[in-house]
Amino acid sequence: MKTLVIYTHPYEKSFNAAILDRVLSCLDEPDLIDLYADKFNPVMSREDLSVYSHGASKDPKVEKYQKRIAAAERLVFIFPIWWYDAPAMLRGFFDKVLLKDFAFDDSTGFDGLLDHEVLLFTTSGDRTAGIEGAVRPLFVEHLFSSIGCERIQWLNCEAVQDDHRLRKEFLDRVTDALKL
Ligand SMILES: Cc1cc2nc3c(=O)[nH]c(=O)nc-3n(C[C@H](O)[C@H](O)[C@H](O)COP(=O)(O)O)c2cc1C
Repeated sequence: MKTLVIYTHPYEKSFNAAILDRVLSCLDEPDLIDLYADKFNPVMSREDLSVYSHGASKDPKVEKYQKRIAAAERLVFIFPIWWYDAPAMLRGFFDKVLLKDFAFDDSTGFDGLLDHEVLLFTTSGDRTAGIEGAVRPLFVEHLFSSIGCERIQWLNCEAVQDDHRLRKEFLDRVTDALKL
């Protein structure tokens, strides 16, 4: 399955980097968007917003990312949970890239235009309470389904700092999820 990996972590020695390595090693010719390495600007500018209602962006990276999403059948997101949410870098990616007439059609209501399978691999620290209640409604129940992606799987690795056994088990769950 043609897979686009969207990776959001700034530090190459993070556990998220280990997840990325595992994901890439499991896939045959994946495409990869590494938002930090790409120096993506997640801020929706005044200029971007002035053309937002036309489904356009002033950021030249946006159209390139949309083409790569359109060429894929599966999207794999890898990111840490920061304040019960995705890092601002990824939130800005959603804001700027999931545009009208690409991700949704709002001419008669609000219809999703994408149909990708979505895998979310996240990590969290020791403040895991509330993550299920924050991430599931936002990502699993609303964001992706609103743009037409109904096949969503989310795996979170809790308390990754200390526990090597937990890390290994999680990486094996990542491998299994990619096989399905
Ligand atoms: C800005 C920031 C906010 C964070 N917010 C949370 C949080 O809300 N809940 C939680 O469990 N962990 C939180 N953490 C901990 C990270 O989720 C954790 O350090 C990370 O998932 C570990 O993976 P890594 O080694 O790949 O960075 C936060 C960390 C940072 C830097």
